[in-house]
Amino acid sequence: AHQWRGVMREYADRLPMLDGAPVITLHEGGTPLIAAEKLSDRVGARVFVKYEGLNPTGSFKDRGMTTAISMAAKHGAKAVICASTGNTSASAAAYATKAGMTCAVLVPDGKIAMGKLSQAIAHGATLLQVEGNFDDCLTVARKLAEVYPVDLVNSVNPARIEGQKTASFEIVDALGDAPDIHCLPVGNAGNITAYWKGYREYVAGHGIPDVPDGPATKRPQMWGFQAAGSAPIVLGHPIDQPETIATAIRIGNPASWQQAEEARDDSGGRIEAVTDQQILEAHRLLSSTEGIFVEPASAASVAGLLQVHAAGGVPDGATIVCTVTGHGLKDPDWALKGLDGEPVAPQRIPVDVYGAAVALGLD
Ligand code: F0G
Repeated sequence: AHQWRGVMREYADRLPMLDGAPVITLHEGGTPLIAAEKLSDRVGARVFVKYEGLNPTGSFKDRGMTTAISMAAKHGAKAVICASTGNTSASAAAYATKAGMTCAVLVPDGKIAMGKLSQAIAHGATLLQVEGNFDDCLTVARKLAEVYPVDLVNSVNPARIEGQKTASFEIVDALGDAPDIHCLPVGNAGNITAYWKGYREYVAGHGIPDVPDGPATKRPQMWGFQAAGSAPIVLGHPIDQPETIATAIRIGNPASWQQAEEARDDSGGRIEAVTDQQILEAHRLLSSTEGIFVEPASAASVAGLLQVHAAGGVPDGATIVCTVTGHGLKDPDWALKGLDGEPVAPQRIPVDVYGAAVALGLD
């Protein structure tokens, strides 16, 4: 019987940077591309959701961590470090463990979801809560990696981008061609950079030296969405105190800012802001109408699609992929509140069939 071998083995011919590296894998990638019928009806297009929450640690980071940790292993690293809003640290901690390396993570004070924190601890990472935001954490992590013998595994590490570009390959392989539009949340902007690289490399006749031709006939427009309180690319300047309930993308000065603008401009796409309210509505829409549970930041892609649709900007019948980047169980608190912010608690009943039937409206 055959199982998915992880992105490094499945796409080995397209990851030349990893030639000769040991393959450190938890069989990441191979995530489902799910037809979203309700969403499709709503926006008048063919919408698919790329469910990255189904990766081994529950987010898309695993695609880039298999490559970053394998690269670190290739040159004999014993320790890795990262700054993180939570998912990168969960992934780094798991893959470092698999590789027998130690892992240090710097997370912003108090603004990291419990599920993610528990993963880093479970995998034995050394965890520092920095009295600052993600951007401060990244500054410190970069300096440490310059001076001390630890490898930085944030998305400024090119091996991260190499691994994450495989999501585009999977989408083209599933659809038979690239979609017309690709929507995704933007935080530190590594992922939009990686997707765009993947789509560029996966077209026929791309003319990129030493990269094999791909099966796609076109490249999509890249539509990126930032949270309104953390939207430096949209506003055109860094944000000192980024805010949003979508803590994963609470970032004021993205490391791959320029690459994100290139992806937007070269693809004829857009980068816009969506409010926390829109994010929570999209989060609820996905779970209650499509059966797909995501963490709030992930829902920014769908919130953005709905926003553009409301403004009349979604072409009729277009093929659209929305990446949802992390699993809902990472940060379940948001499901336990109504859209009004009030807690949603189950009704208590005695052990009684008739009472249960009444409570359920069956009698
Ligand atoms: N969605 C989720 C669930 C994320 O965790 C992140 C980033 C993003 C979207 C944005 O991706 O940074 O490549 O633009 N999380 C990083 C972390 C910052 O530390 O886990 P990006």
